[in-house]
Amino acid sequence: MLKRTGDAPLRDLARRRLRHFLADFARLEDEFPGRYPHVIVRGEGPYVIDDAGHRLLDAGNHLGACNIGHGRAEVARAMGEQAARLEFSALDSGNSHDAAIRFADRLAGMLPMEDACISFCGSGSEGNELAYKIARAWHFLRGEPGRLKILSRAGSYHGSSYGAMAATGIDAFGAGFGPLAPAFVRIPQPSHDRCPYCANDTACTLACIEATRAIVRAEGPGTIAAIVAEPLAIPQAVKVPPPGYWQALAEIAREAGALLIVDEVVTGFGRTGRMFGCDHWGVRPDIMVMAKGISSGYVPLGAVATSARVNAAFADKPLLHLNTFAGHPVACAAGEAVLDILEREDLVGNAARLEPILRARLEAIAAQVPEVLRVTVIGLMASVEVDASACPDLARLIRRVRHEAYGEGLLVRVNPDGTRATAFFYPSLNVTEDDILRGAAALGRAFRTALDAERGGRRP
Ligand SMILES: Cc1ncc(COP(=O)(O)O)c(C=O)c1O
Repeated sequence: MLKRTGDAPLRDLARRRLRHFLADFARLEDEFPGRYPHVIVRGEGPYVIDDAGHRLLDAGNHLGACNIGHGRAEVARAMGEQAARLEFSALDSGNSHDAAIRFADRLAGMLPMEDACISFCGSGSEGNELAYKIARAWHFLRGEPGRLKILSRAGSYHGSSYGAMAATGIDAFGAGFGPLAPAFVRIPQPSHDRCPYCANDTACTLACIEATRAIVRAEGPGTIAAIVAEPLAIPQAVKVPPPGYWQALAEIAREAGALLIVDEVVTGFGRTGRMFGCDHWGVRPDIMVMAKGISSGYVPLGAVATSARVNAAFADKPLLHLNTFAGHPVACAAGEAVLDILEREDLVGNAARLEPILRARLEAIAAQVPEVLRVTVIGLMASVEVDASACPDLARLIRRVRHEAYGEGLLVRVNPDGTRATAFFYPSLNVTEDDILRGAAALGRAFRTALDAERGGRRP
């Protein structure tokens, strides 16, 4: 039943009073009158329940945050106990608190870097901002104030704040918000079907590495503060880099005297079947950015880890950076409880075990949807790229796919990329084989119905 606040139905209030990023309510209302926004009221494991009682597999609405599943009372209890004992005290000017100390120590012990020191923040974008500041400050303190440039990769996403937006390698995210922050330089990355050099990951020649070397030479190695990259990029499709790529990129950073920043915001904490995306390729970053899975979405939380050689420069010169809620006690308590569950239930192992099942189920969609161009899966992170060139209005098709999926009991992200509609399927790590089976089948039906409807009902 629709709940009411005063006289206005909740859905009307939601549209009028609350900004929902990326939601085109005008068109949604036109196409599906009275249906949007969907109002989610509860979560249970990999599922959420809406205000009409529909149960939906959340394979994407959590944006990659929900690793341990929804509704874990153990985390809520840990947060409540912390709030009752000490709800807030800042990490400032010589004062600390035990919740942050314990959590930072536990995190540091898990990371692929020597003697890590943790700076907390509230999100992935904030984490990226801080990582760039630390990189520039590190060079400044070491007598190289001219090292300002941050190299980031085309097709990557690092956040929506100004620095993170400048590092994001997809122009659409910055369009209309300029001028963007200066001194961000784009380098290529392996990118199946989109690579300007070799076009296809099965025949990848790593020409993008040679192109990156050329850019570093042209910019001048002595001007570069850092290279930032995600272990595998997501926004256009899941892009798993070929063997040799990461070693070569790390080598370029080392040779240039630049720091290597790895953005683990969406890949961290088990999503790809290893604790960190870095672990697939043995990467040891100088700086690592984390968010999302660090708290599994129970509370906004991010973190930036720096390695021993970075920390050394700040030993007697504290970083001039303020963030009121950094290391918030309740967030740290949530983070610890999330790690307890992740480890106790071996959810990282579960993601690795379910990878081939998820791949097989998503590939099976192609029998029903021949427009499927490519399925890519690593751990419980998957993309299904679908050729939508026969549909005159890609944005409308995508709204339709999401809508049909919802009707089939599935929450999934679908993004446009050129003439493709790409679905991202990433359930919580405590999902079962049966959940995956039903979710993938629902996605197949949603695509079939939407594609048929959006090009006039003609079957291929
Ligand atoms: C790789 C990566 N970095 C950074 C961000 C930004 O994180 P947030 O939305 O928490 O600011 C995201 C968000 O999707 C991400 O996927």
